[in-house]
Amino acid sequence: MTKIEKGDLVNSGKAKSLYKTSDPDLYILHYRDDTSAFDGEKKESLEGKGKTNNKFNAFIMQELEKQGVATHFNELLSETDSLVKKLKMIPVECVVRNIAAGSICKRLGLKEGLELNPPTFEFFYKDDDLHDPMINDFHIISFKWATENEITQMKEKTFQVNEILKRLFANAGMILVDYKLEFGSYKGDLLLGDEFTPDGCRVWDSETREKLDKDRFRQDLGDVVESYKLIAERLGIT
Ligand code: TMP
Repeated sequence: MTKIEKGDLVNSGKAKSLYKTSDPDLYILHYRDDTSAFDGEKKESLEGKGKTNNKFNAFIMQELEKQGVATHFNELLSETDSLVKKLKMIPVECVVRNIAAGSICKRLGLKEGLELNPPTFEFFYKDDDLHDPMINDFHIISFKWATENEITQMKEKTFQVNEILKRLFANAGMILVDYKLEFGSYKGDLLLGDEFTPDGCRVWDSETREKLDKDRFRQDLGDVVESYKLIAERLGIT
């Protein structure tokens, strides 16, 4: 592991904090136990979630890198900290849905569990006060949040991640229902940033369809961190 000093706090989000380092191109991402849902309305500290998600994210990012998706992840620094490249983030969330759940069910009156074939894609504007409204490509261009080329790349990369992770989860007896990705630029390249953990995706058991992700927290189903650990264990994350 690299010896790197944690510098000033750059930004503290709902579940992670970002710190400067002695290298201007690198940041430290610190995973906290804080858990939030419904744009910060429901909050709790869940012991061990920070450690679990830090390790989970490292595994997924490394798996994606191996299969050709460039990410900001550099290396694990400690149980709760990862070294990442400093990105200029695009303030949009890219969501791919293989199965209808969550907001799309409310918005379009769908029954949870409906298979979406082909999978569908949605952009959301990252703003809790506005409750992350759904937006389209034209908004992104008009407000100059990203270029046409970056939009194309975000869609391509998000679907590429779907192919890789759908298989990974299926091989471990789970269904990847949906997930959210965020991207940012680094020295002219668009890289996958933020995190991929059970906080930002939906994962069901393939046989029982039991919810194993943050819906356990949103819907008060209990055993939230235990369930995240179960997903990790099935994926072979040690
Ligand atoms: P949704 O059903 O609430 O729109 O969310 C779709 C997926 O994206 C779900 O796995 C949760 C994830 N997501 C986040 O993690 N953060 C967000 O701000 C949004 C809008 C979605």
